[in-house]
Amino acid sequence: MSSQRIPEPVDIQHTILDYKIYYYDNVSSTNDIAKEIAKKSGEEKIVILAETQTYGKGRLGRRWISPKGGIWFSVILRPRITPKEALKLTFMASSAVAKAIKKMFGLKIEVKWPNDVLVNSKKICGILTETSVKEDLIDFAVVGVGINANINLEVFPSHLWGKVTSLKHELGYRIRRRALTRSILQNFEHHYKRLQQGRWNILRQEWKSMAAFLGEQVEVTNSNEVFVGKAWDLDEDGALIIRLENGILKKIVVGDVMVRKHP
Ligand code: BTN
Repeated sequence: MSSQRIPEPVDIQHTILDYKIYYYDNVSSTNDIAKEIAKKSGEEKIVILAETQTYGKGRLGRRWISPKGGIWFSVILRPRITPKEALKLTFMASSAVAKAIKKMFGLKIEVKWPNDVLVNSKKICGILTETSVKEDLIDFAVVGVGINANINLEVFPSHLWGKVTSLKHELGYRIRRRALTRSILQNFEHHYKRLQQGRWNILRQEWKSMAAFLGEQVEVTNSNEVFVGKAWDLDEDGALIIRLENGILKKIVVGDVMVRKHP
């Protein structure tokens, strides 16, 4: 992790539950700022929220388009879990977002392994969890949440058309971002408590109930391999199990899932 200067927030605005909100107009990436703060502060439940990101980061080294109108934030946590369990934090966040969107707007939502929230089968939110490890345990985790809220779809490059959407596009009006952020953090806190109490299994079941791709034929790509089979289950730590065409159950820890359309 290279060190960078921590910019002054416009406002250490307020707290939502126990979460202290640091508000910025523009940052490179809220995840990067959060990591810098985490390295220096020793605290947790700090939220770095920015109007825009000039270098928003997606999974697997991709860029995340982060114009004004979106909800871009990162949460610093210090859970007592192993690095292998870090996926649980991603599920906590995607489930918190999915439930909040469903409750506030009544939209049909789905989650997709490992980090997507979909509305009408198109991506509306992605999560990027990054961790720092000390003596085999997570020292801190930064859970970055990006939601296409009040965004026009024209900002996305053509290769993403038909694959991504925004709340404004789906609903036909601009949403109140602050109310949605609050609702997400409320859900998130609820999940975090469960995780700390060792009740991850409840969250896992909840996430699975929103995972429409489970049971479907999928193609999973990681850097140099493609696996085809049926999305079977999530294992104890959140890895995806697929049942290959030869019947073997294969555990996937990193990859992109594509649901195969029925012929
Ligand atoms: C993905 O789906 O590839 C993950 C996208 C995560 C984007 C969010 S926006 C807030 C936070 N800061 C970043 O640089 N990335 C995450």
